[in-house]
Amino acid sequence: MSKNPKPLVAGNWKMNGLKSSLKQIVKIAGKIDSKKKKPGCEVMICPPATLLTAARDKAQGSSLKLGAQDCHADEAGAHTGDLSAEMLANAGATAIIVGHSERRANHGESSAVVKAKAQAAYRAGLVAIICIGETAEQRKANRTLSIVTMQLKGSVPAEATPANTVIAYEPVWAIGTGLTPTPEDVAVVHAHIRKRLTVQMGEKEAQGVRILYGGSVKPDNAAELMAVENVNGALVGGASLKAQEFIGITATYKS
Ligand code: 13P
Repeated sequence: MSKNPKPLVAGNWKMNGLKSSLKQIVKIAGKIDSKKKKPGCEVMICPPATLLTAARDKAQGSSLKLGAQDCHADEAGAHTGDLSAEMLANAGATAIIVGHSERRANHGESSAVVKAKAQAAYRAGLVAIICIGETAEQRKANRTLSIVTMQLKGSVPAEATPANTVIAYEPVWAIGTGLTPTPEDVAVVHAHIRKRLTVQMGEKEAQGVRILYGGSVKPDNAAELMAVENVNGALVGGASLKAQEFIGITATYKS
């Protein structure tokens, strides 16, 4: 299992979580810093924005990082209901997920919009976790690699570096379905992503970028998926809502 670059296991709570969910943050923060259980990866939770500040306060002093799930591209202005990257940084985020397939599909976000959001994250000094991935139809039509290429070209800014950018490959058909690609399929797509990043950023930079796999990652399939070459961690949805399950996934990476 590759430890270089340092893997990242991030939990995306999506539109889930009330104040009562903060106890999960406390549990996760407690476990990942305990001598016996300390995982060999960075650990992040991206709660809804309503819980960011409270989660930051609960995680204070621990190595648990907090992220946001989306942002507006502008720094401030007349955008009712939207949040800027600066606001999210101010609330406690160190990273922002951009271009999640649920936003691409439900909010019509194009790769150009996603790129502008990634640039907003950089402007605020945050890491952009840029999501890409094909639908079931696209996979059936053998278009997975061309879709991924197109999304990388359109969504990854020229200013991307290993320090400010993480790529999350999330096949749309694997999200929340219990279905996962085979490790062989994951290996093909992740190798392709690394190759495309090399074209876009140059070899040295591309090697340092973390490429996460996301889509139905659970404690019982994490080891197999995380062992695949060019997989540098996971973006976890449902299984990140319960501390114990999420910790089970982070434990895949031994310190
Ligand atoms: P699930 O882990 O619930 O399939 O969700 C994956 C995801 O979309 C994370 O961003």
